[in-house]
Formats: sequence, C-alpha cells, structure tokens
Amino acid sequence: MIAVRPYEPDDLPFLWALAHLPDAGVTEDPTVPVPLRARRAAPSGPADLVDPEGTVLRAGGDLVVAVQDGHVVGVGGLRPVRGRPRLGRLVRLRVHPAVRRRGVGRSLMTALEEAARRHGFTDLLLDVGDHQPEALAFYRALDWSETWREAGQEWHWQTVWFHRSLERDHLPVEVRPCSSAADVAAAEHGLPTGRGDHRARFERQQAGEATYLLAWDRGQVVGHVVLESVSVFPEVRAGVGAHPEVHLLNVVERARRRGVATALLGAAAGVAQEQGAALVGLALVPDDDAALAIVQRLGWAFRPGLAPVDEVRRRDPRGVEHLARETCTYWTMDLAGRRRG
Ligand SMILES: CC(C)(COP(=O)(O)OP(=O)(O)OC[C@H]1O[C@@H](n2cnc3c(N)ncnc32)[C@H](O)[C@@H]1OP(=O)(O)O)[C@@H](O)C(=O)NCCC(=O)NCCS
Repeated sequence: MIAVRPYEPDDLPFLWALAHLPDAGVTEDPTVPVPLRARRAAPSGPADLVDPEGTVLRAGGDLVVAVQDGHVVGVGGLRPVRGRPRLGRLVRLRVHPAVRRRGVGRSLMTALEEAARRHGFTDLLLDVGDHQPEALAFYRALDWSETWREAGQEWHWQTVWFHRSLERDHLPVEVRPCSSAADVAAAEHGLPTGRGDHRARFERQQAGEATYLLAWDRGQVVGHVVLESVSVFPEVRAGVGAHPEVHLLNVVERARRRGVATALLGAAAGVAQEQGAALVGLALVPDDDAALAIVQRLGWAFRPGLAPVDEVRRRDPRGVEHLARETCTYWTMDLAGRRRG
C-alpha cells in the first residue's frame, strides 16, 4: 500500500538517496530494491533538496512524500515564484524506479495541487528536460499545457515548460509558433478575421519582427498572441527600454476562463527570455477586465507614469468595426524568476 503524506525531517537522507538515482532516458527499473540506503551527503544542484525546510517549506511551499511499507518511494515539491503571488512552481518530482506506472506520480501531483490551492496559488508551472521521456509522457497524460521549449547554450537538451491552471475546467493546450501556411489556415478557421490578419502576422514573424504563437487544442487553434521583438510604443522604449512586448492576446469564446491565455502569456515570456530579454511588457486598454485579472494574478507589475496610446478595433452597436485610439495602462514582467532553479 502506497500513501502520500507531508515531508518529515527524517525523510531527508532517503530523498537524497532517491535523487541519486538516474532520471534521464527511460529509467523505470523493477530490480532497484525498494528500501533505499540513507545518504548522509546532499545531492549537488538545486537547493530544494539540500535544505527543503529553508528553501521550500519556510518559503511558503510544500513537500510531499510517497511511502510504501514505511519506505520512501517518491517525492514532489511546490515553491512560490518570487514576485508572482498566485503562481507556484512544481519541483523535484520523482518516483522510485521500481514502483513506477502504479499511480504514485499521479497521487503526488494530486497532493501538490491540493497544497497549491491551500496556499492560494491559481496557476502552476514546471519545467522538464526533453531527455526525460517518462516525465514528458506523464505531464501530458495529466493534461498539463506545454507552453514553451527553451534551449540553453550549455545544455544538450531542451527545457520544456508546462503550465496548469487550478481553476475549474482547465483546458490542456499546446502553444507553438505559427510555422506554415497550414497553421495560418487553421488560425483563420479557429479565429476568423476575413482580412488575412493571421497571414500578415506570420509574415512579420518570417521577417524577424515578431513571434506569432498559436494555442492548439486537439488540432484546433483556440488562441493566439503576438510577441513584438521590441516595444511598439516610443514612450515605453524611452522610459523602460527596448524590451519585447505582448500584443493581440485572444482566446476563442468557448475556451475562455480555462487557462489558455495564461499558457499563451507563459509561452510569450519564454520566447522573450530566449531572446535574452530581462523584461517583457504589455499595454492594457482601460476596460479589458479579463486581461487585467490575468496579469494581476500572474504578478505582472503595473508601471505608473506610462500611458501608451494604442489602436484598438471596436464594434459599434450596429456591429460595424472602427479603429479607436485608447490610452492604456502598462505592465511588465521580470523574467529573472523563470530561470531554472
Ligand atoms: C515522471 C514520473 C514521476 C512518473 O511517475 P509514475 O508514478 O510512474 O507515474 P504514474 O504511474 O502516476 O503515471 C500516470 C500516467 O502518466 C503516464 N506515464 C507515466 N510514465 C510514463 C511512461 N514512462 N511512458 C508513457 N506514459 C507514462 C501514463 O499515462 C500514466 O498512466 P497509466 O500508467 O495508467 O498509463 C517518474 O517516471 C519519474 O520519477 N521519472 C524520473 C524523474 C523525472 O523525470 N521527474 C520529473 C522531472 S520534472
């Protein structure tokens, strides 16, 4: 019988033993003895397992442990993300190689999501290397949204970022750049413009001016966002600098309030970070309450003193579209908190 419970200090030498087992490639192995030999030396690498009390628990996170007949067979952690009060990050998930594919990982994740809700998080993110096929299959099976892939210069693998909304009815989506005429056609099918807007955005991406990201749900485009390589507002460039900027965040009506916009924003931040930016910005029109709620929840910082004027399409009561000039509020997100840790 395998049970999941909160971490206790006596678990630590066994969590260190678990951390020393291989995790790259396919590492399920029924021959590894379930009772692990306690290790007295902490693993090298991230501090979460060196000093979990200091770096995870006292920081406002959580650590859960799976045990079978008194033996530690799994672990998973939850950490707050600095500067983003409603966003949690899952870390150090690992299941003993001899007890995999028995639902232990799933139970750990359920416990971590419950803990996240108790701590008041509304969104979770995690990263995993693409050299860990078990973990990729696992997070996809658990309906996490794949938001962005990032290649580090010193790594021989890519980091894959996943997101999950803890709000009801989360929609798992995959976010990736628009990359072909077929993608453009799928975008026009999912979010019709009748004006060739998707093609124009794709062409701007081809020209290196912007990145056009599409959110996919089972082969259908359900949302998009444009990341301009440099802020389009002279006032912002003068005040904050030439950082990338999010535009045209849009999700189809039927997929709203299901975490898609959060996944798109997470992916846009990932692209900006890959481009070497320390900051990503966005302008919000005064009455966009949904976008305001999301950026506040994710911890974007309001920049007083910046009031860029943007052109927005508005429909009048007869359904006719007009271009309106609107004074916006400005928000930025510091990308340092997303670094691997
Ligand atoms: C990823 C990991 C935690 C999964 O733990 P687990 O206890 O085996 O997972 P579960 O049994 O709860 O699996 C739940 C579902 O995920 C999917 N899944 C898990 N492992 C899989 C694999 N190797 N191949 C394909 N699908 C897999 C399956 O859909 C599975 O359901 P099913 O067994 O009914 O088909 C475990 O493989 C592990 O510790 N890997 C090494 C460390 C690691 O990669 N950690 C994550 C780094 S971020």
